[in-house]
Amino acid sequence: MLTDKRILLIIAGGIAAFKSLDLIRRLRERGAWVTPVLTRAAEEFVTPLSVSSLAGEKVYRDLFDLTDEAEMGHIQLSRSADLIVVAPGTADLMAKMANGLANDMASTLLLATDTPVLVAPAMNVRMWEHPATQRNLATLRADGVSFVGPNEGDMACGEFGPGRMSEPLEIVAAIEGAMKVGPLSGRRILVTSGPTHEPIDPVRYIANRSSGSQGTAIAEALVAQGADVVFVTGPADAARPHGVHLVEVETAQEMMRAVQGALPVDAAVFSAAVADWRVSSASDSKIKKTKDGLPTLEFAENPDILATVSQMAEGRPDLVVGFAAETDDVIENATAKRLRKGCDWIVANDVSPETGIMGGSENAVTLISDKGAESWPRMSKGEVARQLAERIAKTL
Ligand code: C5P
Repeated sequence: MLTDKRILLIIAGGIAAFKSLDLIRRLRERGAWVTPVLTRAAEEFVTPLSVSSLAGEKVYRDLFDLTDEAEMGHIQLSRSADLIVVAPGTADLMAKMANGLANDMASTLLLATDTPVLVAPAMNVRMWEHPATQRNLATLRADGVSFVGPNEGDMACGEFGPGRMSEPLEIVAAIEGAMKVGPLSGRRILVTSGPTHEPIDPVRYIANRSSGSQGTAIAEALVAQGADVVFVTGPADAARPHGVHLVEVETAQEMMRAVQGALPVDAAVFSAAVADWRVSSASDSKIKKTKDGLPTLEFAENPDILATVSQMAEGRPDLVVGFAAETDDVIENATAKRLRKGCDWIVANDVSPETGIMGGSENAVTLISDKGAESWPRMSKGEVARQLAERIAKTL
């Protein structure tokens, strides 16, 4: 719930502005006060009257509206909120924010504030992927601004890709997460992610194709529900999640130590693709090509982190979730794995190359628990993460 939380909602000019009307309704249902601010361009998409009717408050429209300034100056307006939400966050407004411009009401409020800011970007896919926008995104993140979305999908402009504004309920979850009032607030959750690298010598290693994108999405979804997340990751390609305690490791043994160091936790999600073996004969110096034949590598078994934590006699997390990446007989193998490892749930997926799941943006999972197997439809990794986080919140 967001009872009596005060949200300053900046609606910028994009087609997604219509979704902000529903967002206002959802926030009001949860007990929040919403003070809306419309940019001039936003007024081309939604009317001040519909916005103020839904919010039950007056709409702030332009910096030089002297009546507003007499009533509540922009400085005070920007600071009286518990959170500033920018939805939709356009490429233009993000650029202004990143560069500290203040030439209208919205950008001035954003520059004058010390209140936390959450942006729900919405723009054409090319605009989102443009190096300038990505640069602005990185700058804003480094400045402490949080983001929710954008989602991937069909866009109003007829193109497909990332750029769609998150749905109102996803934004509500992110707002609750930012305010630490989500259903998982006060809960500490461990997430492992990414591959591990097992050295052969100082320059070579054994790895796997895990990108870390599902684990990152899970960590972000848990943060959005208010959890305190410890994120232990191997050298993954995916950008690191925001708002977590980040622990970067390289090998399975280092991951095991990091996990032990993170305990106790209320729940643990082991989505890392940990190497089963390491090279026990790893060399301290680069192995040279010689005429005397090929080098031989000897292997040793890595610790099974999931099984170790699942089978802890004392201090075991209340909920332990493992992953099963399978290429055949997914449900049978994953069901057996759940029992063998001793975890509560297994999130099983088919990683046969033709599914495009490993390293891709979508996932089709089956959740295996003591109640049996439940197959979820194919959806984005972000959506899998959100639904899994919701399940975890209900269970803890
Ligand atoms: O045995 P397998 O590697 O298929 O099991 C996959 C699950 O076990 C994943 O949740 C993975 O994170 C976890 N695991 C682990 N430590 C290992 C191997 C796997 O935590 N050494």
